[in-house]
Amino acid sequence: MSEELFEVTVTVNGALHRAAVPARRLLSDFLRHDLRLTGTHVGCEHGVCGACTILLDGLPIRSCLTFAVSVDGAAITTVEGLAAEDGTLHPVQAAFQDCHGLQCGFCTPGMVMSACGFIADHPDADADAIREGMAGNLCRCTGYAGILAAVEQAGGTFRASGADPRERHSASTDERSGGGGAVVGLEGTGAGLGDQE
Ligand code: FES
Ligand code: FES
Repeated sequence: MSEELFEVTVTVNGALHRAAVPARRLLSDFLRHDLRLTGTHVGCEHGVCGACTILLDGLPIRSCLTFAVSVDGAAITTVEGLAAEDGTLHPVQAAFQDCHGLQCGFCTPGMVMSACGFIADHPDADADAIREGMAGNLCRCTGYAGILAAVEQAGGTFRASGADPRERHSASTDERSGGGGAVVGLEGTGAGLGDQE
């Protein structure tokens, strides 16, 4: 007997998607396998590591602990929804690059999404608050010093600009876009800022 399917409609990175999914399809699997948005990584698959973090209606959540059918009607942002349309990195991504906040890059999409949510809620966070706020994301490479420095740098960028870190970056307001944006060739480095499977 075939499995019963349920209709789900979601907006992901600004695009409307409709699909029929089994009730037990995890949101992480829905994003990666049904929508082919493989920037969202899956590590532990039981809510511990934070690699699968995405924004659900602006709030960071573990997509491995969420059923796709339960987010019907929601707006989702994944790491693919951060960089500007021309590829210019979102300031949080740029800060991870500037501060060497990634090594293998596996944890990076979840770190970046958590940082976006954290900075939006805590624009004035100091180093201790950032450490506590990012504690739910694990890095197997233990690159925490660079990660925390990146979140601190990005927080300063958003404090200065007043922009919402949960929104797609606009290259027209980015001083980096005038200087080459440091984007070219990133995919080829395997740096893991969002395009790595
Ligand atoms: S894969 Fe979801 S928390 Fe680890
Ligand atoms: S950079 Fe390798 S797991 Fe964090």
